[in-house]
This record gives sequence, structure tokens and C-alpha cells, in this order.
Amino acid sequence: MTRFTRRNFGRLAATAAASFASPLATGSAETQKRLSNDRDFPNDFFWGSATAAYQIEGAVHEDGRGVSTWDTFSHIAGRTHNGDTGDIADDSYHRYPQDVALMKAMGLKACRFSIAWPRIFPNGTGQPNLKGIDHYRRFTEALHNAGIEPFCTMYHWDLPQALEDKGGWQNRDTAKAFADYCGYTVGKLGGIIAHYMTMNEMTTFVSGYSDTRHPPGIELDMKSLSQVKHNILLGHGLGVQAIRANAPKGVKVGCAENAAPITPVFNAPEHIAAARKAYVEENAAFLTPIHTGRYTDAYLKRLGAAAPVFTSEEMKIIGTPTDFQGLNIYGARTVRATDSELGYEKVPNPPSYPHMASSWLSIGPEAMYWAPKLAAETLGIKEIYITENGCSCDDAIAADGEVYDTDRVMFLNAYLTQLQRSVSEGVPVKGYFLWSLLDNFEWADGYSKRFGLVYVDYATQKRTPKLSAKFYGNLIAKNGL
Ligand code: FCB
Repeated sequence: MTRFTRRNFGRLAATAAASFASPLATGSAETQKRLSNDRDFPNDFFWGSATAAYQIEGAVHEDGRGVSTWDTFSHIAGRTHNGDTGDIADDSYHRYPQDVALMKAMGLKACRFSIAWPRIFPNGTGQPNLKGIDHYRRFTEALHNAGIEPFCTMYHWDLPQALEDKGGWQNRDTAKAFADYCGYTVGKLGGIIAHYMTMNEMTTFVSGYSDTRHPPGIELDMKSLSQVKHNILLGHGLGVQAIRANAPKGVKVGCAENAAPITPVFNAPEHIAAARKAYVEENAAFLTPIHTGRYTDAYLKRLGAAAPVFTSEEMKIIGTPTDFQGLNIYGARTVRATDSELGYEKVPNPPSYPHMASSWLSIGPEAMYWAPKLAAETLGIKEIYITENGCSCDDAIAADGEVYDTDRVMFLNAYLTQLQRSVSEGVPVKGYFLWSLLDNFEWADGYSKRFGLVYVDYATQKRTPKLSAKFYGNLIAKNGL
């Protein structure tokens, strides 16, 4: 295991404070130096990329892998763009040595990836499949050999179909099965992976129980839906405990959530105060109970008769302390102060508000400053990773063979400037994982949306690093913007 070190925020905070305090005496060598230092990140900041098993691996029938709900769902006509599936995806199950080499060439220090549950337990529970463990061991060792730190997500949405057939997350037993899978897997891989995340984006995958873009694609009533959310939380809490119980000392556990990236409409004390309240309430279904061990009164009141049934013992499990919190940050959720009971309201965007190739991805760089800051301030989170950030662009190979994704470079520049602002003020962000290493299977959008630093020609599987890969490599080499 590597890199359990402290980071030097003191120096950065002092440098930032000094530059804010003094007038900008343009031109002097000292000012130039100070300005460029102000663009820096801490020395042991983890710069990484993020991917998920089903989006890149392919090889869905190989080495004993069982069927997941995404296999089933993507094969149902009309569920995904163009009927696309993850059957082949980026073929990374076979081509991972090449993908690790691409990461190394960019100078990545860390890699966030996920394990496909049905590769380890083809039926969700019961007989484990050692070939699955072997694959992830080989992959993780390849990362270590390249000097890249693995960050592992246990559940990036590949629920074994056998468990969905018994009710999926509607069934409380799924939470227990998830913990068993975590415990077993970490028992096998614990020593070579130092950071685990239980789940990715509870807020997103639970939508499979209220709309048709995620499996199982059913629409439950409000009460059943809040119970599903509760079961998911319970799975997370039991997962944290199982990972702790089976991992060597020093291993860190958290989860990666797309908590509402609350951002005050502008910097005025009343809107900032409103944003603090909003951060807790807008994340009342997942992030808040994970860090407080309770549902807020306002959340339970909002749900009324549709509130989940739960015990105090379960809430304790849900609130099992974690070592870090992963935040997936894309757009911004803007709020302002009001006289209402909650003290805030969301500010809607007009149709002209800019977005990236995915229409849901509105551009809100300030979220990268505010969201981690509010998470630390309101929920007392002491260690944060940006576990996803990135964008979809209309990438194309130019005549000279290059991909000029200047829009992605603009997007990343804007967000990373805000991240640097946050870190330099002492917000405890320890790393950043860019979504994504490769263009890949973007769920219901199939292959129509490209998020990669590396362009993938799906017909040939040829990989071409884009301009943004060079931008990111340069940033990592300088450890600053
Ligand atoms: C997130 C998902 C990730 C990817 C990006 C674009 O919601 O966690 O798998 O699809 O969006």
C-alpha cells in the first residue's frame, strides 16, 4: 500500500492569503512567482481518471461472469440510444494493459475503476468466481507497476440479475448480499487496494425505480421508492462495515455520490447562508444521513405517509463513520435565500443557459468551489475526493488524425480553477478523478455521448488521446494550472 501522507495545505493557504492581501504589483518577478504558485495544487494531490466496469469492459460472457441488470436492460428494445449495449464497449477487459499505458503516458497518479459484482458472484450470492477476482488482481497490479494508485468502486450499477429477480433494491436482503460481496472481495484484494468506495451515485441509480432510463425501469409509488432509498443506504452502511472487517488496517472507505452541487446564486451573505441550508436538505435522501446517521425532520415531514420504515439500529449502520467522501460534480444547483420555511429556493436556468453535448450537463464551474466547501462545512467531512467531473463533447478525428476538443479543455480549465480556489482555502479535497479515461458506453445514451480524454473508434477499438489528454498531462506534470 502506498501514499498515506499528509498534504501541505498550510503553505498554499498562506500563499493565497498573502496574494489576496497585497496589491497586484504587476511585472515584478516576485508577483509573477506568487501568481503562478497560486495556481498550484498540494504536492501529493491525486490526479486520476474514472471509469466503470460495464461502461468499458465488454467481455460480458467471459470467465464465468453472470448477467447484470444492465445486460438485461440494454438488450430490451427502446431502452438505450440506437439499441446500444455494453457487450463489447471498449473491450477493456482484454485491452487493459494498453489502457494502463495510456494513463501512465498522461502521468496519472490514480485510477478510479469499478468491480462488476456478477464477475465475482455470478448469481449475486452463493458460489464466488475466482476468475473474476484474478482479473481485478491482474488489473490492479498493472496499475501499481505503472505507479498508479487504484481507487475501487464496489458498485457502479452492475446488480446481478438474479438479485433483481428477487426484487433488487426493493428487497432488504440485497443490502445484506451487497455487504457479503464487499467483504469477500476485499478479503481477496484488500492488500493491494487502499481506497474503496461502496457505491456510485445512489441518487442516479435509484431512478431505475421511478423512471425508464435505468434498470429495472419501473415506477414505484412514493412510499416504496423511499423504502428502496433506505435499503440502498443500508447496503452502503453494511458495505462499509464489511470492508472494514475484511481489509488490512489503513485501508480507507467511502462512497461516491452525486450530491446536489449546491451553489449560491451569487456571493452575498444571505445566499451563502441559504446554500448551507440547501446543502443539507437537498441531500437529505443520501449524503446527509450517511454523515449524520439520521434523516432530517424536514425530509421526513416532506415525505409524510411516504416516509420509509426504519429502526434506530439501521440508522446507526447507515451512519457508520467513513474515511472520505467522493463527490461527483457536473453542473451546479443554484439557490438563493427566501423567507420560506426551508430558507432557500432553487433558481431555474433559462433555455439559453449553456450546456455540453449531453443536455443535462449545464456548465457550472463554481460548483467545484462551493460543493466540496459546503460538504466540509455543513456535514463535517474531513477528506474529499472529486470522484467524477468531465463533459461530453462532439469529438471528431480531424484530417491530421488529432481530436481538437477545445470545448472540453475550456470546461476543465474553468472547473479546475474553481477546485484550486477551494483547495487553496483549505477545503480538504485530496484528489480529482476526471470522467472519463476513454469514450465509453454512456448508459441510456449508448455510444452517442463521448466523455473520454481518449477517443475510441468503436469499429476498430483504436484509441487516440485528444487535445484534452495533453492538457491534463501538462497540468499533472506542473501540478497546477
Ligand atoms: C455519472 C455516472 C458515470 C457517467 C457520467 C457521465 O452520472 O456515474 O457512470 O455516466 O455520469
